[in-house]
Amino acid sequence: MTARLLAARPAVEKIKIDLALRCESLKQKGVTPSMSVILVGENPASLSYIRNKRKICEEVGGKFALHQLPVDISTEAFLAEVKKLNIDKTVHGIIIQLPVPNQLKHLNIADLVIAEKDIDGFHGENTKKLYEGTTDMKLLLPCTPKGIIALLKYYDVPIAGQDVVVIGRSLIVGKPVSMLLSNMHATVTIAHSKTKDLKSYTRKADIVIAAVGIPNFLKASHFDPATKTTVIDVGINSVDGKLCGDVDLKDCENVVDSISPVPGGVGPMTVVSLIENMITACEAQLKGKV
Ligand code: GUN
Repeated sequence: MTARLLAARPAVEKIKIDLALRCESLKQKGVTPSMSVILVGENPASLSYIRNKRKICEEVGGKFALHQLPVDISTEAFLAEVKKLNIDKTVHGIIIQLPVPNQLKHLNIADLVIAEKDIDGFHGENTKKLYEGTTDMKLLLPCTPKGIIALLKYYDVPIAGQDVVVIGRSLIVGKPVSMLLSNMHATVTIAHSKTKDLKSYTRKADIVIAAVGIPNFLKASHFDPATKTTVIDVGINSVDGKLCGDVDLKDCENVVDSISPVPGGVGPMTVVSLIENMITACEAQLKGKV
């Protein structure tokens, strides 16, 4: 048996067609959906992510602006830049690219961008909806969880009633994806680096979501072929300059049912979810005005 590859490309192409239509409809009303990215410094990984965001944004017809700020910027100047974009009516979505330098780490970054423009889905008002039990994908929900759900849906992987193991409990991925899947009636176990006997969970799971940040962490022995597990690899690790996931795909491909590749899996789904949030934010800001 060789696992089915859950490649992002066809799902992304399908979502992009829908986004381009929604963008065109907004343009007909005289508004071009627009996003701004605030980047402090010039972290090469961040610049590479930002290039991907710009590409998809522009491909669906949106407007993209990068606000690159000096690495040693003061708190006051940084906050002034965020405020300027928060009140600019021509900007519908804003993200503050993470990580930020040390002098800004004391700030509650998640809540700086106003909830209406928070296309990362990090603001307390937006994450609260997850805790309240939403399954509404038209809300400003965090992009990686949203992308993972869209990938599972595209490949008709059932969620309701399934046993899901999420490995990792970060604010950006592990926690929100666990909440979202639980809202969708999956039975979710949140595992992490201190979980005792991880294999006893993963071998029984219908879906495993690996977001640990350790290259090739999951091996064939983590899976029982009889369970026919679907594996979603969220890892973006660099090994000898090469992008590599949290799952050893070569080792696992004969013991799992389906697996998302790295690169070409969760990454592009995350980017397209961000652009979807930009269009959603723009539509919401215009509601009742045009
Ligand atoms: N850096 C790495 N991932 C992300 C993300 O999802 N959003 C932001 N703003 N920065 C990131």
